[in-house]
Amino acid sequence: MPLFQTRWRYHLLPTDSKGSRIPTWRNVLFRRPITTLISVLLVITFALLTLLTLSKPVANDAVVLAEDWRDFPQPKFPPLYEDVYEYERNLPQHNESLPFPEGADGRYLYQSSHAWGAGWNNAFQELLFQSHLAFATQRAFVFDPYTWNPDPLQNYTEYNGHLIPSRIPLNALVSGPLAGAAFPDDNPNPRSVTKEYFEKVCPNPTILSGDDVPDAVDSTDANFIMQKWIEKLQNTEDRCVKLQGNHAQIFPYFIFGYETLTETWSWFSKSPIVTHFAWSRLATSAMEANLAFIKPIETFFDRLVSMFNSFMWGEKQGIYSQINGLLVLHVRRGDYAEHCVNLANWGALWMGWNTFPEFTDKLVLPTGQNVTEERHVIYMERCWPTQEQIVAKVSAVLKTREAWGIRRIYVMTNAKVEWAAELRGKLMAINGLETVTTSRDLRLSWTQKFVSHALDMFIGQRAQVFIGNGWSSMTANVVMLRMARGVQPGTNRFW
Ligand SMILES: *[C@@H]1O[C@H](CO)[C@@H](O)[C@H](O)[C@H]1NC(C)=O
Ligand SMILES: *[C@@H]1O[C@H](CO)[C@@H](O)[C@H](O)[C@H]1NC(C)=O
Ligand SMILES: *[C@@H]1O[C@H](CO)[C@@H](O)[C@H](O)[C@H]1NC(C)=O
Repeated sequence: MPLFQTRWRYHLLPTDSKGSRIPTWRNVLFRRPITTLISVLLVITFALLTLLTLSKPVANDAVVLAEDWRDFPQPKFPPLYEDVYEYERNLPQHNESLPFPEGADGRYLYQSSHAWGAGWNNAFQELLFQSHLAFATQRAFVFDPYTWNPDPLQNYTEYNGHLIPSRIPLNALVSGPLAGAAFPDDNPNPRSVTKEYFEKVCPNPTILSGDDVPDAVDSTDANFIMQKWIEKLQNTEDRCVKLQGNHAQIFPYFIFGYETLTETWSWFSKSPIVTHFAWSRLATSAMEANLAFIKPIETFFDRLVSMFNSFMWGEKQGIYSQINGLLVLHVRRGDYAEHCVNLANWGALWMGWNTFPEFTDKLVLPTGQNVTEERHVIYMERCWPTQEQIVAKVSAVLKTREAWGIRRIYVMTNAKVEWAAELRGKLMAINGLETVTTSRDLRLSWTQKFVSHALDMFIGQRAQVFIGNGWSSMTANVVMLRMARGVQPGTNRFW
């Protein structure tokens, strides 16, 4: 038989004297038990040794402590972020000679009636929808600074007994297409611009008020409002549009508190506003400076898993990838002492992004007569959990499949330093944890300190598992960014 043919044929094994074919597994196992036993033991020993080596931490990089504002005499005033305003002024799209749809003949949408004096996360959820509307109607989104106090005569505002910046330029908090970065290659959309540039290229914009789309006024359905306004803007000829006047805050805060918000996910999650969302350079630098406190020490095994994931699913390793082994908790304190009681009295439900049907934890309230007391207990436990309740929930979540390999905890919190330290101690008592770190332990420069909520959200976004507060818009936005990252829904949990 020509040799090359043997590659394509099954060989019949030679038969022994009794006519059975050798060697087969059965023959080996039964005829040479000692050899078999030794081989099996060798294989097991080798496998165990390999696993032991793989699960040893890789040599730890020396931790260089980043600069912290507490190391220096405290500046008298908060930062004004003038360098960031300068960066925004110099964005390349601020150029009237650019061809359509940018430049002097470009298309623009400015929504002057947006939230102000509200928390960052109320402003942020609205900003995402506004900028998507501009994107969907091929207009450049016109952005303002994040505004706590619009009075130009006050650069600082007193809040809780200390000064905060009245306004923070958007690019100190976020970047990505909503804040002026280029859209991905296949999207020829005009880039976002500042209000100052808009006023230069659009001295006489068409003014629309909310009443120009009467169906959308008072609607609680974000999906419906978006569709109606896309139609309206597509039928508006003027290249310059400004929303102002009655009901001109077309995505008011309450629509983000309805379960129907999740019905926008099919298109919202695909919008480059979401897929190319990024945190600011300032928040990213704070992430880099603090990564050693929150990221578990990597083992060879972790590296193998990362390599496997990048090979299998093309998951990129970088500043936005999952931090394996990290559990992040959002523990809302401060004004929530009264807020949780009010929420109970109103019977408020969870924020929209916290109610994806796939989620494990849901808000289930008793119905019927005489349940006020029972409901109040549920609201307190889930909105204002005690340290013992937090530890109990964390212990339960750590037993789930999604939490396999968790070794560190980071607590996003606005609690007082002492309370946060006490909680850290109680969490550390849980077996098998390397470290517990809280927002109060991070090292931040004076400029980073006033945008530290962006860093907290960034860390929550990257966690392997996240436990948040269902009523909090900060939790909701973290959950939305996690879903956009493509996490398993079961890794988003709630008190
Ligand atoms: C403005 O855009 C034009 C046209 O693309 C370009 O030639 C010019 O260099 C730009 N100006 C600046 C200051 O970048
Ligand atoms: C606010 O800050 C800007 C920029 O630094 C400065 O030009 C302006 O004079 C300040 N305004 C007041 C009222 O202090
Ligand atoms: C409601 O509860 C209170 C105390 O728990 C009880 O005294 C009262 O009879 C209850 N009322 C009804 C209508 O069940």
